[in-house]
Amino acid sequence: MSGKTLDNLSTETREFAPPEGFSAQANLSAAAYAEASADRLAFWAEQARRLAWDTEWDQVLDWSDAPFAKWFVGGRLNVAYNCVDRHVEAGLGERVALHWEGEPGDTRTVTYGQLRDMVCQAANGLAFLGLRAGDRVAIQMPMLVEAIVAMLACARLGLVHSVVFGGFSPAALQSRINDAQARVLITSDGQYRRGEAVPMKNLTDEATAQTPSIEHVVVVRRTGAEVDWVPDRDVWWHDLVDDQPTTHEAEAFDSEHPLFILYTSGTTGKPKGILHTSGGYLTQVAYTHHAVFDLKPDTDVYWCTADIGWVTGHSYIVYGPLANAATQVVYEGTPNTPHQGRHFEIIAKYGVTIYYTAPTLIRTFMKWGTDNPAAHDLSSLRLLGSVGEPINPEAWVWYRTHIGGERCPVVDTWWQTETGAIMISPLPGVTKTKPGSAQVPLPGISAQVVDDTGTEVPHGSGGYLVLTEPWPGMLRGIWGDPDRFKETYWSRYAEQGYYFAGDGAKYDNDGHIWLLGRVDDVMNVSGHRISTTEVESALVSHPTVAEAAVVGASDPTTGQGIVAFVIPRGKAATDRDTHITTLRNHVAQEIGAIAKPRQILIVEELPKTRSGKIMRRLLRDIAENRELGDTTTLADQTVMNLITEGLSNQK
Ligand code: WTA
Repeated sequence: MSGKTLDNLSTETREFAPPEGFSAQANLSAAAYAEASADRLAFWAEQARRLAWDTEWDQVLDWSDAPFAKWFVGGRLNVAYNCVDRHVEAGLGERVALHWEGEPGDTRTVTYGQLRDMVCQAANGLAFLGLRAGDRVAIQMPMLVEAIVAMLACARLGLVHSVVFGGFSPAALQSRINDAQARVLITSDGQYRRGEAVPMKNLTDEATAQTPSIEHVVVVRRTGAEVDWVPDRDVWWHDLVDDQPTTHEAEAFDSEHPLFILYTSGTTGKPKGILHTSGGYLTQVAYTHHAVFDLKPDTDVYWCTADIGWVTGHSYIVYGPLANAATQVVYEGTPNTPHQGRHFEIIAKYGVTIYYTAPTLIRTFMKWGTDNPAAHDLSSLRLLGSVGEPINPEAWVWYRTHIGGERCPVVDTWWQTETGAIMISPLPGVTKTKPGSAQVPLPGISAQVVDDTGTEVPHGSGGYLVLTEPWPGMLRGIWGDPDRFKETYWSRYAEQGYYFAGDGAKYDNDGHIWLLGRVDDVMNVSGHRISTTEVESALVSHPTVAEAAVVGASDPTTGQGIVAFVIPRGKAATDRDTHITTLRNHVAQEIGAIAKPRQILIVEELPKTRSGKIMRRLLRDIAENRELGDTTTLADQTVMNLITEGLSNQK
């Protein structure tokens, strides 16, 4: 977070009451808070009744083995049945589930009836491959209808999907497949990015060169690119799925049956496989999607611009909206292909009413100018959402003005891969919104800002965000690593039993929560979490690098940009610019293009404490062109001079 944004946050005083008429028709009123706090568990049990259960639970929450939670104990349900079949059974088979828009302009409309058939066929196909409940399936795919169908087919069979963002490198995919021991990978031949067909399977082939657990690779044809083929292992999606029966008996699974693993960056180099289960997760995503977005499933056209490779895509493209029988837009491509008004064109074309995106894209829209939104009819919009990082007040107000026409409530939603669903957000018909603040925990959610000792800070003060009570969508653990789960989230406030979110936060004078960015070594680049250690270990894995330190420096568009300080090994064989290009590409290859450092600075030394810990704070000062902070704890006081002199020689 930049100092500038923090300043903005501490002086921001604007408030926007819910628009006239909105409150009157809103799904939730202020009574929801009172109801939830009167009896939290009864409240969540009531929300769970939004779903169809095969067997009802006999206990709402079992917290006896904390921090390992069990929600709706004894209950049984099928997640895919809840997202698809029951809507068809309720007579909504003709309702559009997905308005899919391909980047090149091709489109598909999928009704709930068609979606049910597709999911059944895919489930039959995956079962034909010998997959059984509990098996893991990796998915790396662009935003295709088949990606959503694949996830739902897994859920239907009780298979645990692990979706890996399409931009992640073969190395990253490989380590995720191996960590989860996935038996099958589902991918596509290629994908459209920025107007071009780029390969996908050729990359996943690199990953699967060393993934002994993978028995089959299922390939969706998208671009028609030529692909290498491993006989007996590789199978086309259309060959596997298209001739399958469109009926499939959905089995009910335990409420705590694993639904998916999603890897996210932590403070060490090894990504954490965040585990989510069925009943509690689906309850909270369905409830929050109804409450925060004020969804009216028979009239709204909802669009969440996330990718299914991130948790936002899981919870607010796949599970929440489909559980609620929403009609939604799914867009395959980049926002400036073929022009910078593409999103606005799509909003106008489908009459989108609810639009949910990330601050980094809003700031990009700001950069591209107001002409783009102004050139399209955005009058269908009635609600705007933001997620992924703190939104600076300027971007929030721009969003409300230029996209929302000053009539749409803006909901800034705070949550994490770990929380599974939205935790802190205004309610659009209730809360007076404040630009830059996520404001209030949702009904049924307990969050606080506390100090180092776990004591709640007074209004007007800052500290750390904690969640003080378990919630239905909470992560159930880190795949294969219960100790890391306890250590990462539950050890800091073990005495109080609080969940430590890793975010700094403050209360304003009304007691509303303002998020201030990560307090650990996790960077937030365009809303994507990347750990400094991950990028450092990618850099030092290159033979020309002796040591590397990475910091997130504030960036006007991406929130944070990755800045790396690198000590070269031996005499550099190439000139500095070539070396830097090589290293940037190396990081892209190791992790993915999203982790490419914005800037690499070649240095001779790194600032360290006497115990050898790199003082990133000082490097951040350099990266953000600030005066250096306190250097007294440095082991060698001259190091910073050496670094700054060396850098000014490079300019
Ligand atoms: C940040 C994304 C401020 C935060 C759903 C969190 C936010 C991390 C907001 C989780 C917000 C997300 N305001 N910060 N509205 N939303 N964050 O796991 O630092 O990709 O811890 O989940 O993003 O990122 P993740």
